[in-house]
Order: sequence, then structure tokens, then C-alpha cells
Amino acid sequence: MKSRRSFLALSGAAAAEAALLAYGMRSRPATAEAGALAPAQQPPQARAAGVRKNLTGEPFGVAMPVPRVLRPTRTTSDTDYYDVDIREADVEILPGTTTRVYSYDGQYPGPTIRARTGRQVKVRYRNQLPDETNVHLHGGHTPADSDGHPMALIAPGGYRDYTYPNRQQGTTLWYHAHGHGTEAEQVYRGLHGFYLIEDDRERNLRLPSGKYDVPILLRNIALDPDTGELILSDPNDRPIVQVNGKPQPHFSVAARKYRFRLLNASDHATFTLTLPSGQLVQVGSDGGLLPAPVTRSQVTISAGERVDLVVDFSRFPIGTQLFLNEAAAGAILRFDVTRHADDDSRLPAQLRALPALPPATVQRDVTLSFNLDPDNTAGLINGKPYDPDRVDFTVKRGTTEIWQVSNGDVEFGIQHNFHLHLVQFRVLDRNGQPPAADDRGLKDTVPIGPGESVRLQATFTDYLGEYVYHCHVLAHASFGMMAQLNIVE
Ligand code: C2O
Ligand code: CU
Ligand code: CU
Repeated sequence: MKSRRSFLALSGAAAAEAALLAYGMRSRPATAEAGALAPAQQPPQARAAGVRKNLTGEPFGVAMPVPRVLRPTRTTSDTDYYDVDIREADVEILPGTTTRVYSYDGQYPGPTIRARTGRQVKVRYRNQLPDETNVHLHGGHTPADSDGHPMALIAPGGYRDYTYPNRQQGTTLWYHAHGHGTEAEQVYRGLHGFYLIEDDRERNLRLPSGKYDVPILLRNIALDPDTGELILSDPNDRPIVQVNGKPQPHFSVAARKYRFRLLNASDHATFTLTLPSGQLVQVGSDGGLLPAPVTRSQVTISAGERVDLVVDFSRFPIGTQLFLNEAAAGAILRFDVTRHADDDSRLPAQLRALPALPPATVQRDVTLSFNLDPDNTAGLINGKPYDPDRVDFTVKRGTTEIWQVSNGDVEFGIQHNFHLHLVQFRVLDRNGQPPAADDRGLKDTVPIGPGESVRLQATFTDYLGEYVYHCHVLAHASFGMMAQLNIVE
């Protein structure tokens, strides 16, 4: 015990990193994201200023792309059918440089699927990659056999059909790769896209819609400036912040209201965002609309989370430039107010009441931590690394439960992001305090700082079977920080 303690104290995160690297190398070289244990607090972007200047060419020189909306291959009275190829693609991330990525349909980020509450979507994903993969609809209330369980993989050359009933309210979801041990690498290589659910009640509120409803995927990467290759090694050293696939783009807007649906698809990075002069008005979070709009001076969005915003550009003269600022990276996106446009959208004072909280009958404790023993390094939940053959919790369908989720990694200051499949939950409190603005609304992912503890309440309805919960720092999940529940009758 004494020697282990002093090993940790003396060599700290660096030794743990080396241990993790060895661990990853043994099983799967490309997931050896060794920096998993480097202090999460260290913002990778902090070191980026010099690098970025050389890497991205003219700042704000390129337009921010908006991922195209996928067209159904066929529709029936109750179902939209889609086909998506999962394949490698060469994309231009840095001007004049080609980067090989993994993609959905050759798009980076992937195409957006627009679904409607109560109307079924079926997607056939064809795997044209050299590796096994699968697809998970993050935040989706989905039958177990379509959830993208980490062991339910699509072989190279094969396909799988996923069914999404969309029995949940309108919100911003995303789809991404989720094979056990490969999820961190494959999402980093580009396997991520938006899945937006709309419903009639939400449409009747008349929030900005159509081309004024814009999903924005944020993530950080590292590239080799000479070859354009993605650098896989250290998730804590990814200095380039991409906004819908481009570093430091501009987005030309009309002087009117917009809805921006932000997603952080990074592995490690948490982004803290500001816009000048009180323009950040939050209308929704992971699982749908908030009861009322909330004006935020800043929003913090950790890996896996979504924040739904309305920004009103109408009070700015044509020619105004506004910068979306990230605390560590600086300006990551420039809005250029270039024109007038009609605006019949609204920002109502009331949006949608949250569902009532039924009384909870089950309490559970969940602790996320690392085993830092160099011979045995692994991500743990309640002391155990993920075992697909083990059921960690058995849940009776229909039950409302309270989970107290804690981060046990205090010594190295490692943040974990707790994510639960199948359900949207509510944060009851954080360290015993009522939820602050970032924790409000329906949530499926919450950051938990070292030593912190969050109480969540969830009701498990509809579907039976096995679902996972895990740290959404995907490198941590790849190292075992995942567990599963079985929902039974
Ligand atoms: Cu975003 Cu289990 O995933
Ligand atoms: Cu998920
Ligand atoms: Cu973690």
C-alpha cells in the first residue's frame, strides 16, 4: 500500500498515463488514448494559440457548413426509411489539406436526420469500413435491439436496421459509433451526426425554424499540419476546435432570431461559451425544451451534452460581427450580420412544463473512478470494469429510481461525464445544492467533477432488455468505465 501510494504521489498522472497506454496497446492500439488520465482540467486549447495560427489559415475565412438534412429513401403512412453508408472519406478540415475521416454518407459531421414525435424512423446502416462498428442514438428512447448496444456490432461489409419509434418529445439528439473499445476512436475519426425530433406542440410555439434552426457540432481535434492526418494519441492535446467540421469559421446571418442547437461531440473537452451583450438565451437541454427561456451569461457544455439556444440578431446593425467565445480557445465562430429578413418566429415566455416527478421507490449509488494500478489500469463503475456478460442493476419496468452518481477520482482531478441510455433524467441536486442552470431540464448526460456527486431521478418506461450507462469521456468508456442495467417485467 505504501509503495503504491508513493508511486502515485511521485509519478502521478504521467505514470498512470504510461500504464494506460500499455493497457490500450495490448488490446487495440488505436484506442490507446493515453492522455485519458492526464489532468482533465488542463484545457488543451490553452496551448493552442501559436499552433492554430499556423494551422487554420485565415481566421474566419471559411463559411460554417450546415450538415445537410438526410432524405428518406421511402416513406409510408407511419414510417420514414433511410439508408446510410458508414465509410471512409477525404474531407477538407484545414484549407488546402485533405484529412481521411470515418463518415456517415461521406459527410463530416454526418447528415442530419429530422424525425417527428410518434412517427417511426428506420435506418439501414451499411458498414463499408474495414472495422466493426455500430450506431447508437444518444438520448433516444429506443428498444434495446436498436439501441446500439456496445456488443451488437455490424461486421465490415454488413448492415443493420435500426428502428426508432420516436415516442418522446421534440429535442436535439445525436447518433454515433458505440462498439465497445472502439467508440472513442471511431467517434474521434468522425462518426457523429445530429438527429432532431420535432413535435407539434413545439412547432406551435413558433421558435425559429427551417433555415433559421441550425445544429452546430463542436469538437476538438489534433491534426498533423503536413499530412492532414488526425492525430489519435492524446485526447488532452487537441488544440483545434471545430465548428461543424471547420476551425474558426464564419456564419452569415440575417438580423433576426435564430435557433442554434449546440452539441459537444469531443472526447474530453468541456466548452464554456459566451456571446457579447447577453445574447445567449437557452430554450432547451439534452431532452427537450425548458419550462421557460433562460438568459445565460455563459453556458458550459461537456462531452455528449446539448444546449438549445435562441439568439436574436435583430438589434444589431448590418455589418456587425459577433464572436462566439470559448473560455480557453478564444473566438471559435464569427457571426456576420449581413442582411435583413422577415421574422415571424417567437420566443414565448413559457415553453413547456417538465413532466411531474413521480415518487421514487429505489435508490442506487454509482461511483465512477479509475484503477490506477499500472498492472491493472481500467475505468471502473462501482469498482468494476465493464463486463458485457454481467448485469450490474436489474430494474423493474415502470419504476422510478434515484441514482446518486459520484466521481471517485479526486487525486488527479479527473472529470467524468455520466450518461445513461434509454431515459431522460432530472438532476435533483449536485453536492446537495439545487441544480444550477447547466443541470436544468431533461438530461441524459451530466459532467461530474472530481469529488462531486449528483442525484438523478429517472423513470424506466416501455422497453425491456439491456442498456448501458457509462462515462461519456469516451476514452474512459473504452477503458471500461461502463456498466449495464437489465430492465425486466
Ligand atoms: Cu453518446 Cu452510450 O453514448
Ligand atoms: Cu447514449
Ligand atoms: Cu470519465
